[in-house]
Amino acid sequence: MKYLIGIDVGTSGTKTVLFDENGIAKTSATVEYPLYQPQNGWAEQEPEDWWNACIQSLKTVISSSGIKADDIAGIGFSGQMHGLVMLDENGEVLRRSIIWCDGRTVDECDYITKTIGAERLIEITANPALTSFTAGNILWVKNNEPDIYKRCRVVLLPKDYIRYKLTGKYGAEASDASGMNMLDIKTRNWSKEVVSELGIDISLLPEVKESCDVAGHITAEAAALTGLKEGTVVVYGGGDNMAAAIGTGVVDEGKAFITIGTSGVLFAHASSVAVDLKGRVNSFCSSAGAWAVFGCSLSAGMSLQWLRNNFFLAEMKVAEGLGEDTYNLMTKQAERVPIGANRLLFLPYLMGERSPILDPNARGVFFGLSAIHNKYDMLRAVMEGVVYALRQSLDVLRDMGISFSQIYATGGGGTSPLWRQMIADIFELPVTTIQNREGPALGAAIMAGVGAGLYPSVTSACEKIIKVNPSQNPIPENSKKYADYYKLFTDIYPGMKEGFQTLAKL
Ligand code: XUL
Repeated sequence: MKYLIGIDVGTSGTKTVLFDENGIAKTSATVEYPLYQPQNGWAEQEPEDWWNACIQSLKTVISSSGIKADDIAGIGFSGQMHGLVMLDENGEVLRRSIIWCDGRTVDECDYITKTIGAERLIEITANPALTSFTAGNILWVKNNEPDIYKRCRVVLLPKDYIRYKLTGKYGAEASDASGMNMLDIKTRNWSKEVVSELGIDISLLPEVKESCDVAGHITAEAAALTGLKEGTVVVYGGGDNMAAAIGTGVVDEGKAFITIGTSGVLFAHASSVAVDLKGRVNSFCSSAGAWAVFGCSLSAGMSLQWLRNNFFLAEMKVAEGLGEDTYNLMTKQAERVPIGANRLLFLPYLMGERSPILDPNARGVFFGLSAIHNKYDMLRAVMEGVVYALRQSLDVLRDMGISFSQIYATGGGGTSPLWRQMIADIFELPVTTIQNREGPALGAAIMAGVGAGLYPSVTSACEKIIKVNPSQNPIPENSKKYADYYKLFTDIYPGMKEGFQTLAKL
């Protein structure tokens, strides 16, 4: 039996999972790290934290598995997208990474749109200029920290940095690179036109390959640190959403998944480039050689985490004592609150919002807060608000003619039966989970298996490995109740839009 490892470099932590060649998870380890918010709306992480988490989690999964490192056929990656990692001539990190939910680059995005032209930019990169997409971040450093930009020799994305630390080789791949506002999505290569017109030195950008290609091999140094065998195959890997697509079998037309991790994403497979000209949802290369369209809500699981950290400290203590997950206790409490949270709505815009409103200045709102409400109503409102925000992306996908008759659920939120039922009721679609819950890490391992020659293709690997559970169906009576709240949810932001712009300037 051969084994594969998927490393998911996430926002709350890095999760490493060791699978057998049938896709059964043998051991798993997660190491968490902080998110730094030096200013309202900014978000940074320390690449060194990702690397330490990778070493620790690899050591744990290998040593606790009882499996010989010799039998590990390959390593693959899933990574939080868009984060800017800048390295100097010695491969040393120059500054903290500005990550995907950072909203500081409003001016840089205006500049990108004016310089390239809104239509031309979408024509080439399939996306408008968006804060936290990497080109804007590079320009922000160039404008605000010119010394760092001058010393920069290589620009990498988060998981590409980890791959570099394991193999000693710089590299990029099409799925993640499509979130940089500089990739020609059709040719799956850098757009020389965009990069040069933005005044970014193209030599900073590594060659772009495909997710399942072999990127290199584990170095002697990385082997000594992690317990892996020197020379083990390492593939390029993919952006976390593209890896989750493979891990849920969303690799053919007509399939879609929803994930509630730190961000929330509604993702549909596309066999050719599909673009929303208004930029309300994003278009990317997939990790299976095709394309993808998805809507991203920036603070999905993050909203629940924020609520937990600020209002559910007692529950955190109890859960710790019971050896339970606090979110499980919270879900039980939310179940007791009726649909609509006793007439309370939550707009989950803690870090601004991407799909579909594209507003980095938007902020979270509890709408309808009354003296009757308690923190459990707030909890239910947060869970519902996250799903309403993602339902708006469903409406855009439908506008674009993209349809699917069921959704696969993954990510931390996908493990909650209550959250899944809300999705089924609010989307009015059956929601299905995959027996192997590892989503992005499984997708990363499948990529490694294709690169190492264990599977002939991603599609055949998915056919062999991905097995689904019975669906949770929408309950018509619930859907009817949610529909009125959803209508109100979509009406609230337009009335507040101007206020958010004013607030941002105070
Ligand atoms: C996708 C996005 C997020 C991050 C989270 O465009 O910004 O889903 O990938 O890890």
